[in-house]
Amino acid sequence: MNKSVSAPIGIFDSGIGGLTVADAIRQLLPHENMIYFGDTAHLPYGDKSEAAIQAYSIKIADVLLKKGCKVIVIACNSASSAAYELLKEYVRKDAHIINVIDPMVDYLTRHYGGKTIGLIGTKRTVHSGIYAQKLKEGDKNILLHSLATPLLAPMIEEGFFNNQISHEIIAQYLSDATLENIDALVLACTHYPLIKKEINEFYQNRIDVLDSAEVVAKALCEYLIENQLLNQSGKPERHFFVSDYTEAFEASTRLFFHELVALERHPLWN
Ligand code: DGL
Repeated sequence: MNKSVSAPIGIFDSGIGGLTVADAIRQLLPHENMIYFGDTAHLPYGDKSEAAIQAYSIKIADVLLKKGCKVIVIACNSASSAAYELLKEYVRKDAHIINVIDPMVDYLTRHYGGKTIGLIGTKRTVHSGIYAQKLKEGDKNILLHSLATPLLAPMIEEGFFNNQISHEIIAQYLSDATLENIDALVLACTHYPLIKKEINEFYQNRIDVLDSAEVVAKALCEYLIENQLLNQSGKPERHFFVSDYTEAFEASTRLFFHELVALERHPLWN
């Protein structure tokens, strides 16, 4: 791969949830140019088939490669579980691919050996069993109890959090017997950092609640340093594309990215 330091980082998600990862990347790597793609036309991915998510992911990778990205970050657990291996094969030497699952599995393996971990995510992520499989490979005797929580991502996209409805839905899910007696809870969906505070309140801060945004940003930083691709100076350019545009999406970017960003429409299929 022959990329320059100033080549952008490509980041994608089913929608704007992956902006939580983009936000962590921006904080850790403030000089990196960034191209974000939210596939809002096909949201949510969590209920889609593996084949559909793979097809969308390939199309998005084409867009990001055309824009010269040096790394592509799959800022979505559902797409990471359905399409990571395929994308790695597809882009080959054109860009490096980082998913949101491996950095979290590494973190758990280093810090939670012998513990019982709960996990919540979309149906696609939970039913793929990918976290359990990767944790087993790490061989640290971590017991994983996973629960699909499909109402949470649409609820958050609609701006429903920190209110009575979100409290009740979150409490209902977290009271499920599957999540009894856990030492930590993994938020295996990039939308969920927005409800981390409510989840911590539910557990009264008795357990660790872990999201992947920071560990993914760190994994990206390590890769860039190791490969002499870290951009350390200059004012970055950041572009945000969505496959379908509504003002509501644009208004919500403030929640996920801590500032309002201008979304540009870029259809996946013409
Ligand atoms: N942000 C996606 C994830 O991390 C979930 C949202 C969706 O279902 O599209 O899995």
